Amino acid sequence: MTDLTNVAGKVALITGGASGIGRATCERFAAAGAHVCVVDFDVVGAQAVASAIGGIALQADCGDRVAVDDTFAQCVAQLGGIDIAYLNAGIAIGVADLTQLDDSVYERIQRVNVDGVVFGARAAIRAMEARGGGAIVATSSLAGLIAFPADPIYDAGKHFVVGLMRSLAPTLAPKNITANTVNPGLTDTNIITADAKKFLADVQFPIMPASQIADAVFEIVTTGVTGECWVCQAGRPPVPYQFRDVPGPRSEGAQGRRPPGLNITREGTFGASAH
Ligand SMILES: NC(=O)c1ccc[n+]([C@@H]2O[C@H](COP(=O)([O-])OP(=O)(O)OC[C@H]3O[C@@H](n4cnc5c(N)ncnc54)[C@H](O)[C@@H]3O)[C@@H](O)[C@H]2O)c1
Repeated sequence: MTDLTNVAGKVALITGGASGIGRATCERFAAAGAHVCVVDFDVVGAQAVASAIGGIALQADCGDRVAVDDTFAQCVAQLGGIDIAYLNAGIAIGVADLTQLDDSVYERIQRVNVDGVVFGARAAIRAMEARGGGAIVATSSLAGLIAFPADPIYDAGKHFVVGLMRSLAPTLAPKNITANTVNPGLTDTNIITADAKKFLADVQFPIMPASQIADAVFEIVTTGVTGECWVCQAGRPPVPYQFRDVPGPRSEGAQGRRPPGLNITREGTFGASAH
């Protein structure tokens, strides 16, 4: 059974660790004594972070399922296992008008923001099962909880991450694996252009340091919560988002509950499990 209230000596694999939020989170976990595996396709940046914190660096395109499996296997081989997986690599495309969306741009963002989280979670779960537990956190965004008309494909991918982690959490709980998202507002990293940063400064809109998100990820992992989406906003402590329940069917027996025991029996169908 993995106890993550103290991460000293634990192994943390962090994707997108060469820069921004990922880098700050590598530093946060290393400062607490974790062995950190910095994963990024920017190998020079990843190596710089790894050597500054005494971790290891692995180059991977997180949208490539073969590369992801290989990277997680290399981390296990070099550090002995994986206790914490922070699936953070992501990009924005800023295409508001869907008629202007190139196929190649669409594929690029889906590969890292959506596929990367699925393959990363799958590889993490396999490694954590062998270890007796662990913690998975994926970087969503405020855009994963609200509409973001400036980049609807980015917004939809970040909603995907929310749905994936919330839906995995109950199945992973008996395996002692937690699954959560962190949902940052505007954070001072390379994903925000210099022009946009200047604009935000001009209109006096606050922008968070990446260390604030790293602190939130650290809190999510060490408190052991699961199935939650932690909102980070400038000047506020991180807070789990309160989802409203949806109304159930209007009938006597159902009383607003979900049907018990409903599961997928084979591709494309729902079936009732024994209950
Ligand atoms: N900065 C913000 O305001 C903000 C707000 C909400 C969510 N986010 C999310 O935070 C995450 C981290 O972004 P950031 O703000 O630190 O930006 P960043 O650009 O500084 O860092 C992103 C890192 O991911 C890496 N990366 C990108 N595609 C990759 C791929 N296919 N394979 C491997 N590595 C890849 C980049 O090389 C880079 O090191 C992203 O998922 C982003 O969507 C950022």
